[in-house]
Amino acid sequence: MHYSEELNFIFRFPTKVVFGPGTAKEVGMEVEELKKTRALIVTDQGLVQTDLVRMVQKALGKKCAGVFSDVVPDTGLHIVNAGTEYGRKLEADVLVSVGGGSVIDTAKGMAICLAKGGKLEDHAGFNLLSGPITPHVVIPTTAGTGSEVTYAAIIKDHEQKRKLLFADNYLFPNVAILDPYMTIGLPRLMTAATGMDALSHCVEAIHSRQSEPVADALALHGIRMIREYLPRAVENGGDIIARGQMLIAACIAGAAFSNAQVGMVHALAHSIGAKFGVPHGIANSILLPHCILYNLDACLDRYSQIAQAMGKDVRGMEPLKAAEQAASTIWEFTKAIGMPQTLREVNVEEPGLEQCANDALMDGSIVYNPKLVFDPEEILKVYKNAF
Ligand SMILES: [Fe+2]
Repeated sequence: MHYSEELNFIFRFPTKVVFGPGTAKEVGMEVEELKKTRALIVTDQGLVQTDLVRMVQKALGKKCAGVFSDVVPDTGLHIVNAGTEYGRKLEADVLVSVGGGSVIDTAKGMAICLAKGGKLEDHAGFNLLSGPITPHVVIPTTAGTGSEVTYAAIIKDHEQKRKLLFADNYLFPNVAILDPYMTIGLPRLMTAATGMDALSHCVEAIHSRQSEPVADALALHGIRMIREYLPRAVENGGDIIARGQMLIAACIAGAAFSNAQVGMVHALAHSIGAKFGVPHGIANSILLPHCILYNLDACLDRYSQIAQAMGKDVRGMEPLKAAEQAASTIWEFTKAIGMPQTLREVNVEEPGLEQCANDALMDGSIVYNPKLVFDPEEILKVYKNAF
């Protein structure tokens, strides 16, 4: 991997990671170590009816002050504010989120408001928090978002149909408990889609304008792990080894992109998700190879290394041909795990793409894309290729 002589970076990874089958039962010890006594579990309407949440509740014992289970996919400001109100009533002093990206991000928003007061919309911005927020222990039930170790949260403003980014160094969760038993019930398509989100994080960290060696190392290994274990987890949801390795892959991908950032794949996926409700991992999966082709000549060396991490032997190939293998191997991979291949298949309507292209240009991620994009027509072309 080549780096410019001007390379300089800061790498942050403050979250304590606990890994292993059955470790979710240790949540009480983690809360104790944080010296907290009133935990509010944050989860969604589906998970609250499962044994997973009951088990976490039981493991917390007397330290469980209550359960907030109103989170829905594509969480919104109103949900965060309702959860905060509930947390205030219970005098919660620590949050334990049990769920996927939407749940974890809701808890991050609540952690801000519980500590700083007001509503979440009062705290929008980048690194504006003046000090630590309410502590947060995460138990992910999907392997993809990486939000358990990142400093950002995406919360939808449902009135404006926009996704808002909250990013702050105080948003890193205190603890991430990666327990493969927590992901074994995840259905096939959700397993594949969230895994593709993690793969997108790896690729975007590597091609980012802010890429650096620590994030590259994590992201390249993340790709190797996902290539090996995601098909196994999709094929057999009860494969505990594959589930565990995917949790680790998603976590290290999260650490990589939380530092190196993501680019146009995420910018384009965010606006498609906000307008048409396409789940994040599915939007990323469809757009990823198209965005690689768009950026191709700006990252020949990086894409050829991604192709190798995807298992392709590119030795002796022309640089352009080797880089193209990143897109083609990822396409083959998404087909093998049963992902939708076009935006048309996931109910995106062509006339809305123009607005999505304009919105994607305003997304915070676009500035880290290896090729700078200023013209919405360029984005529209990528959308149309993926349509
Ligand atoms: Fe993502």
